[in-house]
Amino acid sequence: MCGIVGYIGEQSTKDFIIDGLKKLEYRGYDSAGVFLFDSKGYLKKCKGKVADLEKKMDDDNLSSCTIGMGHTRWATHGIPNTKNSHPHVSNNGKIFIVHNGIIENYASIKQILIEKGYTFQSETDTEVLVNLIEEVKKSNPELKIGKATQIALNQVVGAFAIVVFDKDSPNELVVAKLGSPLAIGLKGKDFFVGSDPSPFIKETNRCLYLNDYELAILSRKKGLTLRDFRTNRVKDQKIEKLKLQIEQVEKGGFKHFMLKEIFEQPKCINDSLRGRIFSNPAKIKISSVEEYWEKFKKSNRLIFISCGTSWHASLLGEYYFEELARIPVEVEYASEFRYRNPIIYKDDIVIPVSQSGETADTIAALKLAKEMSAFIYGICNVVGSSIARETHTGIYTHAGPEIGVASTKAFTCQAVTMLIIATEIGYKLKKITKSKYSEIIDGVQNLSDNVKKILKKSNKVEEIAKKYSKSKNFLYLGRGYNFPVALEGALKLKEISYIHAEGYPAAEMKHGPIALIDKNMPVVVVATKKGNYKKIVSNVMEIKARGGKVISIVTEGDKEIKKISDDFIEIPECHELISPILANIPLQLLSYYIADFKGCSIDQPRNLAKSVTVE
Ligand code: G6P
Repeated sequence: MCGIVGYIGEQSTKDFIIDGLKKLEYRGYDSAGVFLFDSKGYLKKCKGKVADLEKKMDDDNLSSCTIGMGHTRWATHGIPNTKNSHPHVSNNGKIFIVHNGIIENYASIKQILIEKGYTFQSETDTEVLVNLIEEVKKSNPELKIGKATQIALNQVVGAFAIVVFDKDSPNELVVAKLGSPLAIGLKGKDFFVGSDPSPFIKETNRCLYLNDYELAILSRKKGLTLRDFRTNRVKDQKIEKLKLQIEQVEKGGFKHFMLKEIFEQPKCINDSLRGRIFSNPAKIKISSVEEYWEKFKKSNRLIFISCGTSWHASLLGEYYFEELARIPVEVEYASEFRYRNPIIYKDDIVIPVSQSGETADTIAALKLAKEMSAFIYGICNVVGSSIARETHTGIYTHAGPEIGVASTKAFTCQAVTMLIIATEIGYKLKKITKSKYSEIIDGVQNLSDNVKKILKKSNKVEEIAKKYSKSKNFLYLGRGYNFPVALEGALKLKEISYIHAEGYPAAEMKHGPIALIDKNMPVVVVATKKGNYKKIVSNVMEIKARGGKVISIVTEGDKEIKKISDDFIEIPECHELISPILANIPLQLLSYYIADFKGCSIDQPRNLAKSVTVE
């Protein structure tokens, strides 16, 4: 969590730093701050969002500042207030830092520094690090800021991406990374820094992603030098050409990123499928599966590890893989898996699933599985992210940048990707017939158009949302493939509207949640045709018998459930395995519109962050 930006070069930098922070606000928005430097130095920070900070800076003339750093915070150590906001400055007033991550041994270092006479203004671990750097310099005045930072970093335990500036070296910025992400944009004599490339994409597509244990000095005089901060060895600079377009990280006329991302799904689905699915003859081609076929062929078990929405997609993955490939699947919360001495057998395949590729628990779980000699196949959205780099192989979901904190298109693309992998493996293992294989491929090819049809009916979902927007609790029910969708629907509502919602397997309702049902309890029932349709009809009757309000997601042409529901939303008739992906779309819209009616901060819900880089 937390977003950091930096700049050193020939341009005035205030606008880049502020706009860059706005692009990174999905990472946290408890407080914001900047440090800009001409010959004096300007530090401004405040509780709240980047826009609040910007207002405070309105009257300040900063056009001569050509070095800068900025931070948008998701609080870990210390409450969100101005004192705990970054940038932090060392006791001598010369060294400035922004930091994303956690210094785990900060308390013991702080104690040593206090004994040496240092004082602290904030409760943060970051202020400890910047003073440690000062202390390293003080004990060896010959050292320049790059070397002092390097020595300090070898004394800390934890995760960090940092930008450091020292008034004694006014032509340099130092950046380093371990655990948290950091990207450098290069354009002539200008260097841009961001937690991801979105802040600098409109300036340059030349990007260097720092790897763990790398430290770079960005110097006006000497350009960029890159080292391993443990060994001091100079590292090769692998500069990549980014394909990201600026339009992808802007709202494009939509009121919120979340709505834009919901409406982008038809395109994203096609991007996920491009080059992987063919007709005449129907065929799926997944190069990573082909390349590692021997591993899949002899695998006894798949273990999905993930968090949040990605965990819900993994659960759907379990249903797909067990049904189609007949391989047993376990779905694990990464945070539980990593701490409970899991059992991994020789032929298990561990599958981390992640939108960002930076979730700390998922990374730690995958590292653990790797240490235990598991083969790791990643399903990841962000290209070049930590998870993508840590895995043996894998597949990108190609949903494009997702900025709204509540995940929508990333879930859809994860589900689509899992479905085609499971179908391909099932077919290769001869667990499904050629005709089932072709039927699924057909269904997947129609998916994008079917999503478009649902989106065209968004007005109806909006009306339903208005009717229920004052409810205090919701229950979401689904059976079979629709159970993960019920969980995801409930999570979406909770995240952005702050309404309490629970997802349940429909039949489990009788074992508890039914006690909650009364006329004030809307129950969203995912009741698409096929599968356990008859059973879910009975569940709806049980809710109605207790006075509950039913909002159902049904298949076009449905008669039975529509009749007994208070409100319904139709999705197109489709293959049973595709229907959970379609059914999820109206649930995304429902939570979006409810949150909008309530006036919630949809793209930046309270206390949440898009990328959870702390455990
Ligand atoms: C956070 C986000 C969720 C996301 C989860 C896992 O909680 O707010 O939207 O599902 O992290 O993130 P990942 O990037 O690993 O999918």
